[in-house]
Amino acid sequence: MPDNSSYLVVPSAALWLFVLVIVGISCVALAVVLSRARRARNMKLARLEAGSVRSPLPEFEKNGQSAAAALVQWSPETLRHILAKELPDAQVIVVSNREPYIHNRNGDGIQLVVPASGLVSALEPITRACAGTWIAYGGGSADALVVDENDRVEVPPENPSYTLRRVWLSEEEQQGYYLGFANEGLWPLCHIAFTRPIFRASDWEAYEAVNRKFADTVVAEARNERPIVLVQDYHFALLPRMIRERLPEAIIITFWHIPWPNSEVFSICPWREKILEGLLGSSIVGFHTQFHCNNFIDSVDRFLESRIEREDSAISYGGQISLVHAYPISIEWEPARQAQLPDVAQCRRHIREKFGLADDVRLCVGVERLDYTKGILDRFTALDELLRLHPEWIGKVAFLQIAAPSRGTLPAYQQLHEECLRQAEDLNRRYGRDGYTPVLMVTEHHSQEQVYEIYRAADVCLVTSLHDGMNLVAKEFVAARNDEQGVLLLSMFAGASKELLEALIVNPYDATMMGDALLQALTMSSEEQRQRMQRMREVVRDNNVYRWAGSMLLDAARLRKRVAVDRAVGAAPTSSGNVISLLDRRRVAAL
Ligand code: F6P
Repeated sequence: MPDNSSYLVVPSAALWLFVLVIVGISCVALAVVLSRARRARNMKLARLEAGSVRSPLPEFEKNGQSAAAALVQWSPETLRHILAKELPDAQVIVVSNREPYIHNRNGDGIQLVVPASGLVSALEPITRACAGTWIAYGGGSADALVVDENDRVEVPPENPSYTLRRVWLSEEEQQGYYLGFANEGLWPLCHIAFTRPIFRASDWEAYEAVNRKFADTVVAEARNERPIVLVQDYHFALLPRMIRERLPEAIIITFWHIPWPNSEVFSICPWREKILEGLLGSSIVGFHTQFHCNNFIDSVDRFLESRIEREDSAISYGGQISLVHAYPISIEWEPARQAQLPDVAQCRRHIREKFGLADDVRLCVGVERLDYTKGILDRFTALDELLRLHPEWIGKVAFLQIAAPSRGTLPAYQQLHEECLRQAEDLNRRYGRDGYTPVLMVTEHHSQEQVYEIYRAADVCLVTSLHDGMNLVAKEFVAARNDEQGVLLLSMFAGASKELLEALIVNPYDATMMGDALLQALTMSSEEQRQRMQRMREVVRDNNVYRWAGSMLLDAARLRKRVAVDRAVGAAPTSSGNVISLLDRRRVAAL
């Protein structure tokens, strides 16, 4: 038998050699993988370390609701403290269309008027606390008589604490920019009130020109390259970018006081991209509610090439970052007027005498500008519903509507006025009788003192907006009732309904619900009124206007610190000097 063993040895030696080669290659590969992993880990650690430089900086306050903010008692002193500590040497410039004080000719003298405006009542105490500069359109007939050679006047007149810088507009500018583009275009576009927006190219041109005029004024008033500019409302969508181009280091906080529509509705506006680009010149764009922030972000997503970080509500556009946050606006606490007012019993007596109301008649009130978004006609319907279904209330309830004349040259506002008068007359004819007028409609401007007296005299306050960013009447009514009595009927479509949960929340389009709610309000026990009012007063006290402004200023301070830190660690700031690397930083932190 042949010896085959030698044949067997040769293949097994080759096999061993093969195995050794494979093991060798594997070891080398493993070493390479391990070294790469170590390098990657080291790089990650290095990046995290860079991130940790910023960790002492508190995060941006989300929606004015951070835990820290809730622990603070917000007051003018708190604001001054924030400014002194967090934003030393910062000059605060407020820009709005409506001025806080209007000087009007009155016979041979000059009368001072504080306009009916939620924006003014919120911003006024803030500007006082910051000793800032307020730039606004000088619309009063005697405005030009009281300013100095730089168009400035110190206000409030009785105790000057800030500068009002007036901007003059021609009739045509007012017509195109304010009445036209802002109030016939953007106003109905942003409110769901079923009034068709009107967009005219000539109005758009005036709007652009007036925004530029205000940008020139901001630059002229800025004492240095880095002011904090608080841009207010839909009159100035283009202003933030115009300021950014000329003052790249400025912190620009834009607050949009009205709702923002969904992206499909927004697409109606022929200049939608320009409006979004203008607003994204801001460091922060603020809305009252998260819902409107989301609508704004969706509009940007749909119409601009941008980078959106939804988790942070941040948008990067053209190399600049804008935060889009919700800051629910509010009123000052305690309201300055409160201290000067007589007690509730006296207010009730005085208002009843003034409007000829019998002692046993319950008083429902509505207070606002005469505007089709406020749901005034729907209150008339609710009263009709109540008196029709519960005739025992005829002679026992009256409705006082205070409506400050507003935008009165526009057809939509004239029609509303006529319709209000017609419906009030109709109700009075059907339900009125000798010595009893169910509806009292007063179309006149009332001072804040007069308005607070009415709030204090009322049994029920109706805030039934068809759509409203916040609605400060609701909060003012609550603030005015330190007797913890009175019932608030509040529209589910007003931003305030997200905070004042103890109000009777209604759908103004639902006449049955409105009539029922009115009955519930009129028959509510004093104890239930007290419990609801106590809770609502706590909410308004804790979330007052100083917190609204303070939250935005704190976010501004954090932005400014981040820019400084970015510079210190060598991150390249954008040409705008804003916080370019926020989005990238988030990504690193997530690794
Ligand atoms: O609600 C939007 C708003 O600009 C408020 O901020 C302000 O209270 C109101 O409209 C004032 O309107 P106008 O200045 O047109 O009288």
